[in-house]
Amino acid sequence: GRSIAFHGQHQAGISTPPQAAASFVSFNVLATDQQGLRDLFTTLTARIRALTAGGPVPATDLASPPTDSATLGPVLPSDGLTITVGVGASLFDDRYGLAARKPAKLVPMPAFPDDNLVGSKELHGDLMLQICADSRDTVMHALRDIAKYTRGAMQPSWKADGFHAEPRPSGTPRNQLGFKDGIANPDPNDRTLADSVLWTHGGANGEPAWVEGGSYQVVRIIRMLVEFWDRVSLNEQERMIGRRRDSGAPLDGTKETDIPNYPADPQNLLIPMNAHIRLANPRTAATANQQILRRAYNYERGLDLDGNLDVGLIFCCYQQDVARQFQAVQQRLAGEPLVDYISPTGGGYFFALPGVKGSGDWLASGLF
Ligand code: HEM
Repeated sequence: GRSIAFHGQHQAGISTPPQAAASFVSFNVLATDQQGLRDLFTTLTARIRALTAGGPVPATDLASPPTDSATLGPVLPSDGLTITVGVGASLFDDRYGLAARKPAKLVPMPAFPDDNLVGSKELHGDLMLQICADSRDTVMHALRDIAKYTRGAMQPSWKADGFHAEPRPSGTPRNQLGFKDGIANPDPNDRTLADSVLWTHGGANGEPAWVEGGSYQVVRIIRMLVEFWDRVSLNEQERMIGRRRDSGAPLDGTKETDIPNYPADPQNLLIPMNAHIRLANPRTAATANQQILRRAYNYERGLDLDGNLDVGLIFCCYQQDVARQFQAVQQRLAGEPLVDYISPTGGGYFFALPGVKGSGDWLASGLF
């Protein structure tokens, strides 16, 4: 399969278009001191470098546990695999003497007004691995490999598995409300824009030098109450979102790529004032620096205790400053009509580390 470069200024898996399968896995770090934490990052780097490159697995002598699980056979496919590593605020408590090195904007995720986080086992974490690939078994193989090599230094605490559907019939893929999701996103390949809304810069914004080329990651597990949603008229659904369900076009346009005209005409009521897209991005000059790069996945995990479908969105977005961007958007969305049909149940804030520059570099090398 295709191979996505591991080395670079930024980690892969951020500006990379979403692959078909993903796992978001949160870990508690168990390393006992700073040296142990460095060792963990160098091990992680070596495994991610090897797994994303693919190739024949090293031979195993019969007397030892095998070097590889063999779930992908004797030759690992690269299969579009990316593994993106983020660190949580809790890693910078005084355990490792790194409090002074914390990325300036990294805080624990707060609870928002419409959240249902009480009793959640899917919150926060010292470390987040976003593992994405073109097929499910490649994601699972990578996680199992990393868990084996890092045993004793970190322990998984929660995991959310996602899938990204094929475009149907074309354009942007759909979420489980049936709407195209991910249409309006800042272009991460527009350097000027990405430098102002996506990547963190050392020395700017109160940031320590080592964060250059990183990005803040927000992960939110948002259940969709599809049994209720399926009883709502199409007209009301479309007015909640602000777009047509079939084409993805804004309600004042005809194609998904059309730009809603409320910035030019604030009296435009074809798209209701409280429609999701209008609240999320009013497209005014004042909100231009609040744009987020969304990279969400659908999840599906069976039934709850009452027999309702447990499906929803692993909302994930990347940005330069969580308070200025995600939180500003989330606050505008508080109380939107859509809140009756969704329920955020977990998640966390992480800082996705700068990229690994070459074969001599390693993840978080600048942190120490
Ligand atoms: C756009 C659905 C949660 C921010 C959209 C669109 C849909 C959608 C259908 C229109 C298509 C597109 O441009 O991608 C949902 C659903 C959610 C959810 C079902 C929950 C399950 C969130 C959250 C945020 C957010 C938590 C951020 C706090 C945005 C933004 C846009 C958007 C910024 C683009 C608006 C624009 O630029 O026109 N969402 N969304 N969404 N959503 Fe959400």
